[in-house]
Amino acid sequence: MKKFSLILVLLVSIVLLSSCKNSSNVFDFILDESYDSFVTMATSADYAPYEFIEEGSDGKNTVSGVDIEIAKEIARALGKNLRVIHKNFDFLIEDVRSGKVDFIIAGITPTPSRAEIIDFSKSYYTEESVEQVVLIHEDNAAAYATVESLNTTGLRVGAQTGTIQVEFAQLFTPLATLKAISDINELMNNLTNKQIDALYTEGPVADVRINQGAPFVKIVLDQALDYEGNAIGVKKGNTELLAVINSVIDQLILENKITEWLSYYSA
Ligand code: ARG
Repeated sequence: MKKFSLILVLLVSIVLLSSCKNSSNVFDFILDESYDSFVTMATSADYAPYEFIEEGSDGKNTVSGVDIEIAKEIARALGKNLRVIHKNFDFLIEDVRSGKVDFIIAGITPTPSRAEIIDFSKSYYTEESVEQVVLIHEDNAAAYATVESLNTTGLRVGAQTGTIQVEFAQLFTPLATLKAISDINELMNNLTNKQIDALYTEGPVADVRINQGAPFVKIVLDQALDYEGNAIGVKKGNTELLAVINSVIDQLILENKITEWLSYYSA
């Protein structure tokens, strides 16, 4: 019995320790040794090509993607190092509203209701609107060829908590059962394993998964085109920071950097 409890304690500690190791959600980037402070940005790093967790050259996890490149440029323009905090998407708006972080970049669509809570930069997305899609398992491509065919009682559709995709799911497939979870990686796995039948997401994110070999096909949601690109969020009234951010965006667009990063991180 004693031996059994000892083993149990050991097992529990191993589980706890290993989860601690992976739960570091703060990533510091020293951009210049002479900078003496950090600017803090929050994101939800489950969204390649915008932001994702990967193994860095030192073997430790790091956060990468188009949005991280943009954040580094903003930090440089401010003469500060960059601290990136990775958390669930549905916390981001509140974190910047309350001043917990300086800005948020997470492939965020600047919707009118969000713009009542925080201020948005100009769009940094190079096309007018981001393609909205629904992903289907390739085995079901023939059965569900249109969004209308997904509006069926008993079907399970997924979307990331707090995103506009939840609204699309409610709008376009109200008869289906909505499974909203905070981690889009988990939703992608659910679709691979057919635990859900469809997943609402965005074109660039869908394309990365398909290019990586995920067994998905996409249905383009032409019905959902009125949203304009992606923007960076700051606390309401923080015009000083917003001006710096907007000029960094102008410069990056001028130098074609965003397009370059998009194709680099989509490959
Ligand atoms: N563009 C969508 C929205 O703003 C989804 C963004 C999800 N971003 C992420 N990093 N997971 O609601």
